[in-house]
Amino acid sequence: MRLRVRPSARLYGVIQAPGDKSLSHRALLFAALAEGTSTLQGWLPAADCEATLRCVRALGVEVERPAADRLIVCGRGLRGLQPASAPLDCGGSGTTMRLLMGILAGFPFPSTLVGNAQLSRRPMERVAEPLRRMGAEVRTTEGHAPVYLRGGTLRGIRYEMPVASAQVKSALLLAGLYAQGPTTLVEPAPSRDHTERLLRAMGAALEPDGRTITVYPAERLSPLDCAIPGDPSSAAFPLVAALLIPGSEIEVTDLLLNPTRLGLIEALQAMGAPIRVIPEGERHGEPVGRLLGASAVRLQAIEIAGPWVPRMIDEFPIFAVAATQAEGTTRVRDAAELRVKESDRIAALAAELRRMGARIEEHPDGFAIEGPTPLRGAVVHSHGDHRLAMALAVAGLIAQGETIVEDAECIGDSFPGFVERMQALGAEIEVEP
Ligand code: S3P
Repeated sequence: MRLRVRPSARLYGVIQAPGDKSLSHRALLFAALAEGTSTLQGWLPAADCEATLRCVRALGVEVERPAADRLIVCGRGLRGLQPASAPLDCGGSGTTMRLLMGILAGFPFPSTLVGNAQLSRRPMERVAEPLRRMGAEVRTTEGHAPVYLRGGTLRGIRYEMPVASAQVKSALLLAGLYAQGPTTLVEPAPSRDHTERLLRAMGAALEPDGRTITVYPAERLSPLDCAIPGDPSSAAFPLVAALLIPGSEIEVTDLLLNPTRLGLIEALQAMGAPIRVIPEGERHGEPVGRLLGASAVRLQAIEIAGPWVPRMIDEFPIFAVAATQAEGTTRVRDAAELRVKESDRIAALAAELRRMGARIEEHPDGFAIEGPTPLRGAVVHSHGDHRLAMALAVAGLIAQGETIVEDAECIGDSFPGFVERMQALGAEIEVEP
């Protein structure tokens, strides 16, 4: 599938972003471990989360699905998962594989986790190594999937995490629920804290203290009745499109506003973008609200480094598109993690944005973009990376002439309905088989 994108006139309207991906994975996995029945509404029916659903069912958990985005999960309790009869297929989802590694480390039966070619290129030792220290038997395939694991009696550890990664942190917190004694993790910089918030809402004992978090062994988790708010990482695409297309005005309703996810919004505001965040309270320990965005008269370049990076880790592809229109040199440093995402996002972004005329310099741990540069339509490639595909589609909306985004079906990994939502706002994007 490919996208045909044309320069668009103003974007205007109200949209609801699809359910948050990080919360959808977690709510389902934790509900599977709860004592009793959980109801999840607004669950994200995207390929990555479907992988989690497949795995949870393969581990003996009954899940009813009265609608694509509504799940009723019969929790089996913290010790109740059953061995899967075949390898657990995590598709292309890093969150599925890494969080499951943490959970399965608590079970005495053997498990095998596999993924598609893209996921099998991503590093798994970052989870395997600390799980071994806790006492689990874990074998990776030269650092990658397939992963073979047998857990059992774990001991609590104190672990200084070498990278700020919510997936690694979550895996170890989950394993910590099964350990004897407390497990303490120290992060180099704060990453998204959904696991901490949700596990606490379900009755687990966790003590956050700055960059340190301690989890205590748990006997039971209470079930959830939750409505998952919209994903700020998905809302980022229409939001940046509205900033860059003159005369635009959009509103995004019922959005997750967790501060560990708002790095992009803060960066855009610092660049001069007229974005308003309107808090509307909390759900299951997570702040939610609305977002208003309008076109920016002029954006100014900015530097992003250090603890800012994990707070917008998934947003660099679309941030780079905004940076092409900012005055001055926008620099991103300390972001080498981008090289081990769904694609090498530094190399892929540089290659594809250059085809459209952007002035972008690649660095080992980031990039520099000089702006403002008028973009021109081109044939560009997604590299099988959903966030790159959507960022390039937004770039096409402000380019001169037509843009074709090749291999765009990966958009369904995180944002089913992206094209329809963008069209509803007035964007000229069409799908071609
Ligand atoms: C995620 C954590 C981040 C992020 C990913 C989702 C999560 O990955 O990039 O899209 O839900 O925990 P890392 O933990 O590898 O930084």
